[in-house]
Amino acid sequence: MTIETFKLRPILFGILLSTAFLMPVLDSISEAAGLNPRMRHRLSTQEHHGLGSEGPGVCPQQRFTEAAPEEIRNQTNPVEANYQNLEAGRSFFHTDAQPTACKVCHGPGGNGLGMMARGLNPPPRNFSCNETMKDISDGQLFWIIKNGSQGTGMPPYKLNLKDNEIWQIILYLRQFSSSK
Ligand code: HEC
Repeated sequence: MTIETFKLRPILFGILLSTAFLMPVLDSISEAAGLNPRMRHRLSTQEHHGLGSEGPGVCPQQRFTEAAPEEIRNQTNPVEANYQNLEAGRSFFHTDAQPTACKVCHGPGGNGLGMMARGLNPPPRNFSCNETMKDISDGQLFWIIKNGSQGTGMPPYKLNLKDNEIWQIILYLRQFSSSK
């Protein structure tokens, strides 16, 4: 080993060490500024699939939703719980409901943590929370899906879904929890 390389060693080591320390710092700065391409890719694939966060969601959930008129609140689901109706409900929930599929806010697993849920106050209902869902009647669900929940992010679907289709969705929503 020559004297020169021996002298260079600590310098090279220093450069290596500072890069190792600097990389994560630079990474997080560019991430915060929205400049990190890896981060951008992660977000765009998430949007593409309409995913949200997984997990049980907030349960029990505080609920201040307006009550449906009594005669509607007391209605039970007139649609038969068969495979065809459930599958129709599933399609509306995940893709077909216009203008926005339910999963975008309520999450693919019904936990209320869909992609667009962030920033919504009150948050979307967590359909997988038995403790909250067991006290909400079919008629109540029907009324809110049809008319929306005023002053919240929950839009009305009466122009885009027939009554029969809303009941099909309710069959499907009940699958997320053990409440009937
Ligand atoms: C843009 C976001 C968004 C979309 C899309 C959306 N919801 Fe909601 N939903 C909400 C929010 C926010 C609430 C909470 C409203 C409240 O607290 O009163 C809610 C509440 C509900 C409730 C609770 C009613 C109650 O009495 O507690 C039901 C049922 C519901 N949504 C069904 C649906 C269905 C079915 C679809 C699709 C056809 C859908 N939502 C699409 C945001 C959304």
